[in-house]
Amino acid sequence: MSTAISPTAYNYKVVRQFAIMTVVWGILGMGLGVFIASQLVWPQLNLDLPWTSFGRLRPLHTNLVIFAFGGCALFGTSYYVVQRTCQTRLISDSMAAFTFWGWQAVIVGALVTLPMGFTTTKEYAELEWPLAILLAIVWVTYALVFFGTIVKRKTKHIYVGNWFYGAFIVVTAMLHIVNHISLPVSLFKSYSAYAGATDAMIQWWYGHNAVGFFLTTGFLGMMYYFVPKQAERPIYSYRLSIVHFWALITLYIWAGPHHLHYTALPDWAQSLGMVMSIILLAPSWGGMINGMMTLSGAWHKLRTDPILRFLVVSLAFYGMSTFEGPMMAIKTVNSLSHYTDWTIGHVHAGALGWVAMISIGAVYHMIPKLYGRDQMHSVGLINAHFWLATIGTVLYIASMWVNGITQGLMWRAINDDGTLTYSFVEALQASHPGFIVRALGGAFFASGMLLMAYNVFRTVRAANPVQAEEAAKIVVVGAH
Ligand code: HEM
Ligand code: HEM
Repeated sequence: MSTAISPTAYNYKVVRQFAIMTVVWGILGMGLGVFIASQLVWPQLNLDLPWTSFGRLRPLHTNLVIFAFGGCALFGTSYYVVQRTCQTRLISDSMAAFTFWGWQAVIVGALVTLPMGFTTTKEYAELEWPLAILLAIVWVTYALVFFGTIVKRKTKHIYVGNWFYGAFIVVTAMLHIVNHISLPVSLFKSYSAYAGATDAMIQWWYGHNAVGFFLTTGFLGMMYYFVPKQAERPIYSYRLSIVHFWALITLYIWAGPHHLHYTALPDWAQSLGMVMSIILLAPSWGGMINGMMTLSGAWHKLRTDPILRFLVVSLAFYGMSTFEGPMMAIKTVNSLSHYTDWTIGHVHAGALGWVAMISIGAVYHMIPKLYGRDQMHSVGLINAHFWLATIGTVLYIASMWVNGITQGLMWRAINDDGTLTYSFVEALQASHPGFIVRALGGAFFASGMLLMAYNVFRTVRAANPVQAEEAAKIVVVGAH
């Protein structure tokens, strides 16, 4: 193996920008989550204003946490990983900068338009057509930067993490463009090109694969780079990672109809969605096991390394939510869980436990390297953050399980004469304690993010530009 120091360096500027904004949007999105969770406890917090009502702030929460927080984490880590594993700089600094500023513009657009009530009404695709077009342009540029960098790589093979990031980029473009096809009637109002059950099917093909490709496949790309790096061990099985990749992307795309059980969707489509969801358990767990087993021989590191703990516990929650999901996709189980807080608990087991935890771990891994430090300002604070996040997630999902099953059972309870045993309001009253515990769990999680912001701020303030420049130098290992 020959080692040559290349005179060029990685583009870390755009990675730094996305990493910092991950923390900023994380605080805002999760802070808003705590606020809407509190509105469900104290309805007075709707403030009797349309802009601050739960109905308008809820989609703002989902957009901020998924696209702003999760999106910045995915952009930042993918740019970091693709450069380091391809041993080359991003193909274009200006295009990369455009993706950063364009993405922030889309988010600010969401911050303004959603509270004003402009919405397509399609969940996770609420942004009206001008913003949706801007998003599409930014995304296509992202694809050009990412794949262009892969094309000019100095390494022979393409590291598996990039396969996952690549699939996430391509499929997200496809989903976003197809689901958004619509007829604009004014600057902020458009009508979907699809009607009735077709519209619902396209929307949940989009919605489920937003989960599958945005909230899962992209983050698996993160997992395949940061878990081995932080554990200082090679990935457990490269062969399993290839099987994992092909099985996951082939199966996910069929599972959307599980969101539309017992609706006007043809029965065969619902059953297909159910069966595909159950089969999906296998590749999901294959990936989880591949990540976990990477720690073989390195488990002791968990005692001293809270960053590794974030990464490993995220995999545990990933395994848990991808077990729960297939169970909820079974029609008889779904007849109990659908419309209840059980779904909300499942969502946040994935969102807080998996998506947020792995992103937080990845950002803690990158920040010192990006700013020329050996480690974060305070390892103790990372540890405190870890416990706040873990306890917060457990409080959130456990309270939602209790609420969900209580609601499902109360709604279906019937007296001998065929009338309902409980009114809706009685089920709501029974849910109140759970709402309080959820808000508390959310507050735990969000306060951990504040510790992170402080820790990142102190690390960045003590940046060592000379060491950072050194770390950004491209070292090409091995002949082409
Ligand atoms: C402090 C943390 C958080 C809190 C307190 C929180 C709270 C909430 C609340 C109260 C809702 C509305 C539930 C309902 O309508 O009954 C919600 C919905 C949602 N949140 Fe969060 N959230 C947090 C973090 C996150 C994160 C990090 C993500 C994603 C990465 C996320 C994704 C979602 C999604 C997708 C929904 C919609 C679920 C559905 O329609 O089934 N949340 N959240
Ligand atoms: C094998 C994997 C998974 C399967 C089969 C699955 C299945 C399901 C099912 C059956 C529902 C309930 C649909 C309903 O009754 O309306 C659901 C909802 C949801 N799941 Fe999963 N899930 C999986 C993994 C995940 C993961 C890892 C995440 C997050 C990172 C996630 C996020 C969501 C969201 C956001 C919703 C709510 C959608 C909505 O109604 O707004 N799921 N999932």
